[in-house]
Amino acid sequence: MCGIIGYVGEKHPKEILINGLKRLEYRGYDSSGIALKNRSDIQIIKSKGKIKDLEEKVNILEIIESNIGIAHTRWATHGRANEVNAHPHKVGMVTLVHNGIIENASELKEKLSSVNFISETDTEVACALINKYYKGDALSAINKAISEIKGSYAFGILFDDNEKLYAVRKDSPLIVGIGENENFIASDIAAIIEYTNKYILLEEGEIAEITKDKVIVTKEGKVIEKQIIVTDISQDDSDKCGYNHYMEKEIMEEPAVLMKTLAPYLDDIDIIPDLSKYEEIHFVACGSAMYAGMIGKTLFEEYANLKCYVECASEYRYKKVIYDRKTLVILISQSGETADTIAAMRKAKENSIDTLAIVNVKTSTIARECDFKLFIEAGPEIAVATTKAYLLQVAILSLLAYRSSGGKDKSFIDDAKRLPGLLTDILNKKEVLKNIANEIANSKDAFFIGRGIDYAICLEGSLKLKEVAYTHSEAYQAGELKHGTISLIEKDVPVFAVISDENIKDKTISNIIEVKSRGAKIITVSNDEAILEGEFKIVVPKVSKLLQPILIVPTLQYIGYYVALLRGCDIDKPRNLAKSVTVE
Ligand code: G6P
Repeated sequence: MCGIIGYVGEKHPKEILINGLKRLEYRGYDSSGIALKNRSDIQIIKSKGKIKDLEEKVNILEIIESNIGIAHTRWATHGRANEVNAHPHKVGMVTLVHNGIIENASELKEKLSSVNFISETDTEVACALINKYYKGDALSAINKAISEIKGSYAFGILFDDNEKLYAVRKDSPLIVGIGENENFIASDIAAIIEYTNKYILLEEGEIAEITKDKVIVTKEGKVIEKQIIVTDISQDDSDKCGYNHYMEKEIMEEPAVLMKTLAPYLDDIDIIPDLSKYEEIHFVACGSAMYAGMIGKTLFEEYANLKCYVECASEYRYKKVIYDRKTLVILISQSGETADTIAAMRKAKENSIDTLAIVNVKTSTIARECDFKLFIEAGPEIAVATTKAYLLQVAILSLLAYRSSGGKDKSFIDDAKRLPGLLTDILNKKEVLKNIANEIANSKDAFFIGRGIDYAICLEGSLKLKEVAYTHSEAYQAGELKHGTISLIEKDVPVFAVISDENIKDKTISNIIEVKSRGAKIITVSNDEAILEGEFKIVVPKVSKLLQPILIVPTLQYIGYYVALLRGCDIDKPRNLAKSVTVE
């Protein structure tokens, strides 16, 4: 969701900014723009659509000499996705790119009645406000403006008569990249990883004043000493490495990242917290992370006898939550920057409730603010639709459930150690998955049915098909189907039936028979080869129930991927979706 990159140094910024925008594409966007500046001139080029459209424009225009610039990918919120609304915006002496939402934009606009606004954006209002206060002192103008702005923002700012780059943020991520005779700003390190692995994390309200060889960070006028962080991600982590799509690369990385994430805990299970001292657990997250929470709930209830609730963060943040002192709120988030999940975390903290984060990005807001944190080792995840990060969230939840059950399942540790190898075998035999994808590629609708933990698996399988292949798909508790949705089952509608839980296997088989007799095309997904129902079968090795979803979900992720490929979809950047949803 919206991406920022900025450069100041000895090189011409054009290529650096365009390359950076390409690396930020994964966040989701619908227009982009770039501003290049020198002592006397500023050139702004914008385009609706893909970065390559912007690049084509930039390549045919005469570009000014420059060594400082800012660029942006915009995911439309205030105002349509068009060239006028695309960033950078310029008002008077100030040129600016912005991520986030300015909540009091209309109010501020009224006070700026002399400005002739040309776009529908809240960003142009922020730009005008900084310009109003700019009398030659950039820091003072930014400080005055941010004291009036309500909402979330990460700003990259240029002033016409000043050779510095400025950055400031609140509730929206922004880092300052530290190079040799050059410095950067970026929404995340992936955008600049080919130039530097060092960066400074800006805290709320801190303003960075950046030249090619100096970064001065201040807050309310006082200089702040900042720590330089060295990232362990490499350029390879954010390249496709021979795969056609990030989504496929990231699915294929699952065995390796699983091993990396699980290994320390399997050597010493006591380092994973025992949550049995809590009486109630709230899993709060968005999208796939919430579906990982559904798996967590099922496992915690069954193994650790804990009362559990799963809530999507956008509801949780506003609803009346009746907290018990012995409640733990588990926030699950790949990015650690999802606005609703951050708000849910802060709500729990305001109520003095313990919070535990399961998170990938170690420097993210959620990782920094939660009381306790467990990191997944997914590395950068670029495809908008999560795959490997989801799987690792499930893996951590399985570990927690096992530990909190007092080690109830004796096969757990051995099975967990075998998991990466078993998953490698599954992913190496993709023909079966491709055949199924071929079979369903033209279907308009699909259904996923299962009970208990299998239903939680279905939710994620169904979401993958929806988001990357644009197939209308629904996940249903197998027993509930006959209370309405079965009316949609007709000849050749694909129904994926997930059956891994031995205890309720026969019940789900009855439900398969119900839909089969109405003409559905059944695909059974199971750890039991003996299940005969279904024209198509995906069979995975049987492991501890606590770990079984980790072998099943990747097969459904791959089917989603492959159907999307057959349908010619924009797999890594599905329409209307964003990787990290940093606005409400
Ligand atoms: C977006 C992504 C999803 C992701 C969700 C939550 O919608 O497209 O793949 O599950 O955000 O993101 P988070 O970073 O909080 O896990």
